[in-house]
Amino acid sequence: MKKIALAVTAVAAVAALALSGCSSERTGGAGGSTDGADAAGFPAGSTIGVALPDKTSENWVLAGDLFTNGLEKAGFKADVQYAPASNTVAEQQNQISSMITNGAKVIVIGAKDGKQLGTQLQQAADQGVKVIAYDRLIENTENVDYYVAFDNFKVGQLQGQALLDGLAERAGHPAPYNIELFSGSPDDANSAVFFNGAMDVLQPKIDDGTLVVASGQTDIQQTATQGWEAENAQSRMDSLLTSTYTNQTIDGVLSPNDTLARAIITSVKAAGKPIPVVTGQDSEVESVKSIMAGEQYSTINKDTSLLVDQTIKMVEQLQKGEEVDVNDTEQYDNGVKVVPAYLLDPVIVTKENAAEAYANVPNLLEIVKAAG
Ligand code: BGC
Repeated sequence: MKKIALAVTAVAAVAALALSGCSSERTGGAGGSTDGADAAGFPAGSTIGVALPDKTSENWVLAGDLFTNGLEKAGFKADVQYAPASNTVAEQQNQISSMITNGAKVIVIGAKDGKQLGTQLQQAADQGVKVIAYDRLIENTENVDYYVAFDNFKVGQLQGQALLDGLAERAGHPAPYNIELFSGSPDDANSAVFFNGAMDVLQPKIDDGTLVVASGQTDIQQTATQGWEAENAQSRMDSLLTSTYTNQTIDGVLSPNDTLARAIITSVKAAGKPIPVVTGQDSEVESVKSIMAGEQYSTINKDTSLLVDQTIKMVEQLQKGEEVDVNDTEQYDNGVKVVPAYLLDPVIVTKENAAEAYANVPNLLEIVKAAG
């Protein structure tokens, strides 16, 4: 994980530049992702497995239907499965093994725990099954062929910047500002990438005294939210309010996603305190409503349909034996290899730019318009 984070930090600026200019760049030759091994392709109409984690946020729910419909439309047989809420890691391992046994040619995986799929991915490689890590990197194995995701380090940077902007706009007093930090589940490779991206922006402001993490809890172990569960974030926020904020105001909270943002806001409201500036991610319906009502400050638009479309495009390229599009061959070191990746650009959303940001997302645009 540390290795990934360091690799990400080191090349973030370069990657950001690359992303801004050439998001659909096709790489080949020495810098490319394929070495001719995919040239054979596989029969049209083959089965494609999609193993998704438990439904910890709306994006996972949306992804399932989009994959089923999109893969069928592209002429494949889709085998889309979610890991259940309990015994999640073992169940996902079993689902992936069954997909291999049942003849899937490509397996797209949104990992529950990206460090625990080594055995199944070895099995996939032995059978010539290609593996695409979807949204979350799969670590410590050479048997992951591609990674497709929104640029997660940039997600974190946008969250950090939104927190600063929101404080300047809403705190109602000059710095210093009291803030608290939340991060995601430790078994999700994304959690550290989001957190490191945010700290890339926030740490200098903590160092110069603009921001004060009044609880002193600044490292990722202290800020983690096991399982991305709302109730875990809510109870940590309850504790922070009692331990640290009986006699002072909390001005801002870095929240890594919308589900946790709403849990944090629920906790603050229950304590009868003013709502601080709270960030988020995923553009969940309830959070977009909250933003329009002036409660949650920001979210991130990571349009799930774009990510699923890009993934299906990669599957089609594999099927035809073509070179697979990637636009990053440096950032995502999974501990064993740098996984060739296709990264999409995330967009920050606040009340101010919501109409523009959701111009192509009808159900969210409707919420924005209804809020006037
Ligand atoms: C995803 C986020 C999501 C979180 C919890 C992460 O891996 O990138 O979009 O909020 O998982 O489901």
